[in-house]
Amino acid sequence: MKPINIGLMGVGTVGGGVATVLKRNAEEISRRAGREIRLTIASRRNVEMARDLVGPDVTVVADPFEVVNHPDVDIVVELIGGDTVAKELVLQAIANGKHVVTANKKLLAVHGNEIFARAQEKGVMVAFEAAVAGGIPIIKALREGLSANRIEWLAGIINGTSNFILTEMREKGADFIDVLKEAQRLGYAEADPTFDVEGHDAGHKLTIMAAIAFGIPMQFDNCYLEGISKLEGKDIQYAEELGYRVKLIGLTRRTEAGVELRVHPTLIPEDQLIANVNGVMNAVLVRGDAVGQTLFNGPGAGALPTASAVVADLVDVTRLMTADPGHRVPHLAFQPDQLKNLTILPI
Ligand code: HSE
Repeated sequence: MKPINIGLMGVGTVGGGVATVLKRNAEEISRRAGREIRLTIASRRNVEMARDLVGPDVTVVADPFEVVNHPDVDIVVELIGGDTVAKELVLQAIANGKHVVTANKKLLAVHGNEIFARAQEKGVMVAFEAAVAGGIPIIKALREGLSANRIEWLAGIINGTSNFILTEMREKGADFIDVLKEAQRLGYAEADPTFDVEGHDAGHKLTIMAAIAFGIPMQFDNCYLEGISKLEGKDIQYAEELGYRVKLIGLTRRTEAGVELRVHPTLIPEDQLIANVNGVMNAVLVRGDAVGQTLFNGPGAGALPTASAVVADLVDVTRLMTADPGHRVPHLAFQPDQLKNLTILPI
């Protein structure tokens, strides 16, 4: 059977990880996808650096539009980030009838309603497991594993950089700025790290999870955001003396009045499992009416964990490509009128 051709836009930390995972686990991946998944073309402004990361079998170009317009590409992977050029590229890929896999939480949280509407019109898929909680398959858990449940609430540590900073401040008495620099060096932080420490990145991820969990459109503008940049070492120490850990928590829940979305530092009793999720690890607690409470824990950032989620989407999309487009269930489905009954409550 003809292989599925992948076009990768943005060969950095995660892009290099995707090339590595596709090569290293080629046999398992093909078996699970039912077809060979082949990285065919990749783009990065610095072509030489990209070539080192993806290897000699992949065509490397400087212009990402060559990837979305390439006639042989079946699935486009967007790892550029941000919501300017990335948005243009994703919409162009959809217009060209290509499926999209993206790790771009900002793009989806801010422009997802438009992107998913366009994808539905064109009968293509947009998959985004890597956009939330790095390597934890929380999107697939919410959409598939917990699909029998009415989700009541979910809450979690969904920004690895902030959790890394809070952990180092508590364990080593380290300074906020020094730990942030270390997170940047390790490739955990966003291009603009204020997104991590002011709660925006967690808000983007929370917005996406709420859309899946409650079947509502993306509403990032209605998410309450408060980050960790004003916390001092002594706040963390006082909390500890009282038996609590400080964690940046994103929480969404149904209330009588609607769905609430909020991100803020939170005191968690130290005997709770989630209080002991440290470093770059993420964790998401989900409460469903049938299953009760479940906890998903794993690495929230980094090259290979995020690549694990990107490649899982490539397998998922490849499998679904065999279904008749008219009968495919979109990766995000909501009825526009569902929004009318829901109001977001800022706190
Ligand atoms: N900057 C993000 C984090 C990367 O620290 O969690 C993964 O989305």
